[in-house]
Amino acid sequence: MTDNAFGNRPAIVIAYHSGFGHTATLASAVADGAHTEGADVTTVAVDTMTDADWVTLDSADAIIFGTATYMGNVSAGFQAFAEQTGRRCITGAWRDKVAAGFANSGAKSGDKLTALISLTVFAAQHHMHWVSLGLGPGWNSAAGSEHDLNRLGFWLGAGAQTDVDAGPEDVHPADIATCRHLGQRVAAVSAQLIAGRAASSAA
Ligand SMILES: Cc1cc2nc3c(=O)[nH]c(=O)nc-3n(C[C@H](O)[C@H](O)[C@H](O)COP(=O)(O)O)c2cc1C
Repeated sequence: MTDNAFGNRPAIVIAYHSGFGHTATLASAVADGAHTEGADVTTVAVDTMTDADWVTLDSADAIIFGTATYMGNVSAGFQAFAEQTGRRCITGAWRDKVAAGFANSGAKSGDKLTALISLTVFAAQHHMHWVSLGLGPGWNSAAGSEHDLNRLGFWLGAGAQTDVDAGPEDVHPADIATCRHLGQRVAAVSAQLIAGRAASSAA
């Protein structure tokens, strides 16, 4: 693995909750994308946090949050993690880190925009810098198909849909590619930010 064009290696954590493994598959895709863009990547399941995981989160340049959509919002497992960060919110421990997010649901829409918005508000409460998906909508014309990147047409983050009777290995390839793109984008933005901060502090 070589450094990125800026010669730095952003530390990126994928912090996700997955009850049945679908969102875990997407977290791996996000991690893969960030890794290919030159980041040091750690994937953390937020329902099994260790002391070492908290240290990794606190020292990250960027955190990409991922959740399954349960009852039209982030899962209880993700929200329990969010509430555990309350002290950090007050102290500003994650201030000015980069943030982004992805959400998975059983229905095509499934009201997962609400989950993405919740992730965005969570990041804002931590004074983080939210990075959008950075893709136009796919599958929105006669020439489009379900195999398009961003097939479900989200801007705020990566949206994915997995049939409720599918296994973790059956997550849609287009959603995997879209999540990989998100990881790449966050790694690129983080690298730019690190380089810019270094340049401005040297000036
Ligand atoms: C308690 C519960 C609530 C759910 N609520 C929704 C929902 O509001 N919208 C939806 O589309 N799917 C809903 N689902 C389906 C899950 O989002 C879907 O199965 C998803 O792939 C699960 O991801 P996971 O394997 O990472 O937990 C729900 C599933 C459960 C268990």
